[in-house]
Amino acid sequence: MKQEIMTITSQQQLAPRIFQLTLTGELVNEMEKPGQFLHIKVPRADMLLRRPISINQINKEDKTCTIIYRTEGDGTKIFSELSAGDTLDVLGPLGNGFDVDCLSSGQKAYVIGGGIGIPPLYELSKQLKQKGIEVVHFLGYASKEVAYFQEEFMALSDTRFATDDGSFGVEGNVGNLILEAIKEEQPDAVYACGANGMLKMVAQVFSENPNVFLSLEQRMACGMGACYACVCHVPDDETGTKSVKVCDEGPIFRASEVVL
Ligand SMILES: Cc1cc2nc3c(=O)[nH]c(=O)nc-3n(C[C@H](O)[C@H](O)[C@H](O)COP(=O)(O)OP(=O)(O)OC[C@H]3O[C@@H](n4cnc5c(N)ncnc54)[C@H](O)[C@@H]3O)c2cc1C
Ligand code: FES
Repeated sequence: MKQEIMTITSQQQLAPRIFQLTLTGELVNEMEKPGQFLHIKVPRADMLLRRPISINQINKEDKTCTIIYRTEGDGTKIFSELSAGDTLDVLGPLGNGFDVDCLSSGQKAYVIGGGIGIPPLYELSKQLKQKGIEVVHFLGYASKEVAYFQEEFMALSDTRFATDDGSFGVEGNVGNLILEAIKEEQPDAVYACGANGMLKMVAQVFSENPNVFLSLEQRMACGMGACYACVCHVPDDETGTKSVKVCDEGPIFRASEVVL
């Protein structure tokens, strides 16, 4: 983990409130695992807490990485106003990353994403493909209007879409797509990132599979395991006192390790 002032090389809007930002710097050399995140300082003196944003793509050749974010509050709104040549104070890479080593060439992975949980799955899928893993993507959006990165995922592998309003792909959530798919085959591993409801569904549907990896999102402060702002409870803890820290023990956990 390093702290660096990284330079923005481009910023583009992908959909309403969704932006892709490319950064360059030495920090890219530290980035290995998909699912890790950057902790980015908002360039405004009164905003002290950094914002956690997942790494979307790592490109070691040109020393760049990308992030994709949705504007939510003041911090991300300020990010969206930056352009090429501006700089950001970045800490990273943080978190454990997705386990791609539990699979070997020829095995099959389901990669499941919803809304703004989709960005880190792109680097994951790239790395799985490089290992010779067969990947099927299941991506859910609120509507066609806010969908992004569809072509990129389709270019990598089989990709199935769902939207809440049925304006693109199957109507409803990704659960419908998954229930249909498992009638034909069971994957060797499952990777998911998105809203809690979606993660719960994934954990339930694949409860027999030991290789189900969920990326959790928790409000964070330090991002490095020091402040306990980001804890998540663990199963079989009668006292209710045991927990894991999402920032440094996660954000990715096996489904059996956490209570959603
Ligand atoms: C591991 C991880 C990876 C993430 N990856 C992405 C991503 O790739 N793209 C993306 O758009 N969003 C991602 N998020 C959510 C993103 O961090 C928040 O949307 C963002 O911090 C909101 O900041 P804000 O100033 O715009 O909003 P505000 O609501 O003004 O933020 C106030 C404070 O709450 C924190 N906060 C608010 N929402 C969240 C949240 N959902 N998770 C954690 N902290 C939050 C902020 O960091 C800030 O400290 C991720 C969150 C986590 C924990
Ligand atoms: S955010 Fe401080 S311990 Fe996780």
